[in-house]
Amino acid sequence: MDLEDLKRRAAEAAVGYVHSGMRLGLGTGTTTRWAVERIGALLAAGELADVVGVPTSRATEALMRRVGIPVVELDERGVDLAIDGADEIAPDLTLVKGHGGALLREKIVEAAAGRFIVIADHTKRVHVIGEKKAVPIEIARFGWRRTVSLIEALGARCTVRLDGNHEPALSDNGNLLVDAHFGPVGDPRGLEQQLLALPGVFEVGLFVGLADLAIVAGPDGKLEE
Ligand code: 5RP
Repeated sequence: MDLEDLKRRAAEAAVGYVHSGMRLGLGTGTTTRWAVERIGALLAAGELADVVGVPTSRATEALMRRVGIPVVELDERGVDLAIDGADEIAPDLTLVKGHGGALLREKIVEAAAGRFIVIADHTKRVHVIGEKKAVPIEIARFGWRRTVSLIEALGARCTVRLDGNHEPALSDNGNLLVDAHFGPVGDPRGLEQQLLALPGVFEVGLFVGLADLAIVAGPDGKLEE
């Protein structure tokens, strides 16, 4: 099966956990897109009702509006269930997220979720976080070169994400995104805390202790939960 089919299968399985009346947190990316479209289709068919969602990016908000999922802001109640993709998934459900640039809002929403289900195809599974992907970090534009040097002093090689015009790309929050290549990370929680302690760092794409369940589609389409 091709990767899009695998993403769709994982996403649709997660939508099986959505019930009428739920407040959802909806992630960002090509896997989550399938879940958003499926929820919209179930609402249109009357198979779900009174579902609302907090989008984690402007792109997801636009998609939600297109498929008819009411958009709400995150408030003190949090959300019942968050569904989102990931860039890497370790066996203990530690994640790398943010290659789609939405890590700051994703972490706010997923930390506020009663349950967070991560969805992916099998290529996202790793033994150790950092094995394949850089750790995305959202930083302030002000003094960014200094902030990058502080991140590199923790052992990373950094690249600042660029847009189509080769200018630094801005996140939905107007900040810069840095991809920090650390290689395999033995202590993701410790590294997350070290990075968050740096002035100028707003959020780190290491998601430790947030995911409750991973639904991963294997190469043959079989789902592993
Ligand atoms: C966006 C994310 C995405 O969930 C992650 O990049 C996975 O995306 P995709 O499903 O397109 O592979 O963290 O910030």
